[in-house]
Amino acid sequence: MDSGDNTIGATPMPSGRTQATTRRTFLGGTALVGVGALSACGSDDSPTGTAIPPTETSTSLPPVPKLNGDPFALGVASGDPNDTSVILWTRVITNPSKADGGIGSVPVPVSWEVATDAKFDSVVASGAEVATADFAHSVHATVDGLKPDGTYWYRFSIGAAVSPVGRTRTMPTDDSQPSSGQFRFAMATCQDFQGGRYGAWGDAAKLDDLDAIVFLGDYIYELPNILTGPNGDTSRHYTSEVPTDLPGFRARYAQVKGDKQLQAAHETAPFFATWDDHEVQNNYTKDVDPELRQAGYQAWWEHMPVRLPPPQNGELVVYRTLDVGGLIQLFILDTRQYTDPGACPGDNPVGTVPDCEARSDKDRTLLGDTQKAWLLEGLEQSTTTWTALANPVLFAGLVTGTVEDPATKAQVPTFFQDTWDGFPAERATIRSALAKVDNPVVLTGDYHAGFVFDVNDTDAIPPAEGPAVCPEFLVTAISSFLFSEDYTKFNPQVRYFEAKHGYAVCTVTQEDFSCEFRYVDDVWDADSPITVGPTWAVAKGEHTATEVTQG
Ligand SMILES: [Fe+2]
Repeated sequence: MDSGDNTIGATPMPSGRTQATTRRTFLGGTALVGVGALSACGSDDSPTGTAIPPTETSTSLPPVPKLNGDPFALGVASGDPNDTSVILWTRVITNPSKADGGIGSVPVPVSWEVATDAKFDSVVASGAEVATADFAHSVHATVDGLKPDGTYWYRFSIGAAVSPVGRTRTMPTDDSQPSSGQFRFAMATCQDFQGGRYGAWGDAAKLDDLDAIVFLGDYIYELPNILTGPNGDTSRHYTSEVPTDLPGFRARYAQVKGDKQLQAAHETAPFFATWDDHEVQNNYTKDVDPELRQAGYQAWWEHMPVRLPPPQNGELVVYRTLDVGGLIQLFILDTRQYTDPGACPGDNPVGTVPDCEARSDKDRTLLGDTQKAWLLEGLEQSTTTWTALANPVLFAGLVTGTVEDPATKAQVPTFFQDTWDGFPAERATIRSALAKVDNPVVLTGDYHAGFVFDVNDTDAIPPAEGPAVCPEFLVTAISSFLFSEDYTKFNPQVRYFEAKHGYAVCTVTQEDFSCEFRYVDDVWDADSPITVGPTWAVAKGEHTATEVTQG
């Protein structure tokens, strides 16, 4: 594990972009940059506080255009921390309902600063970026030279306008342990805007001790409006059509990211995010229209605080690791971009099928050859106490119901073939690799209910025969419609199941790995009471989780 480079599978920001070539980063807090140029033509809008004072004139930054409104309407975010660096994100936008964000096509200079206190008395890094219309005026600022295992606060400014303040973290270095004795992260997924409000994010935003937020996909949904709130409430309906191009996807992100509770969660801790299918198209595989995929991927990139280059030709490597000293290494996966289409015929409207011979073809892949090789090599080399897959789709296997076999008239089990159930040969390979690492854990999203599974060493349907390789903690949806079938009746490998909206907070120490399930009582109430569900934990050296605290 190299200090300062925790992105095994990813490439750094490209140096050829306008944004990168004009970036100026200064460390030490005394050498602010370029804001003389910013203030020369600056907007008088100052919706959120005091401007960062100008100390140096630069000729390389464009003038600040006239901005009609708060340019930080989508908030701020940070992400992909390593031991000395973090990515800071914002998007310059004054009118989220307009395709150009209300900014037009002009470049916009954006300054940022990082401090060791929330009042910015002690600024330790600052710099400036140029946000361009090519990337929806998004900003991905790389802050380097920070101290490991540190808590920092950051903000942006454009002329006199200053953004909200975000809190972020760096990770412990190499083999060292967190000074707090733990790595504590929120885990979330599936936030269909039309499915309800983001009370779960509002709850997460109140936690002041999170080291990170792991997001497992479905940040936006491409769906048409099919859900309505109580008493005909359409206030969460999408205001744009199903996206078919880049402006369409941008419109979805602009609407979703306008939610203040989501913004507050981003301000709480750095994200470590992957995508699932709805960032492009429901249940898509590698055969999806590449132009649609490029549009979806670019809009995702523009709106996420990721240490990645922008996608090209419908391709973007998003699998990478989050290294938390010697405590835990998380491998975040992409289970859509390289994925073979479903093997079994007879997909019903909810996407489940009975078994077929083609499912077990040894060459079928969910990860694609390159990602699979990267993961297997990474697992083999992992030396941390814990090793986790941050994995969008269900790994352990799940029988969803039964259908009548036309030939035998017997009831046979069905499953979702866009989960790992559709790829048993590849799953067996990954499962064998997990069995060889110390203390493996699988973390999963996508399924719209809370679960704990035993990942059993079998591909039987249901996978009830052990022994267990590791536990799988599957987090429920923030707001997407719930899968409320009682899966426990078909699936002995399910240790816990609850069909409620919410998220999870996981705590990793040298002794154990635990996840607390947190649920909103009413997904349509932004201020809903929170029900703290059970905490399930696996002790170091064990292969199954147990319920340690009842909800
Ligand atoms: Fe989802």
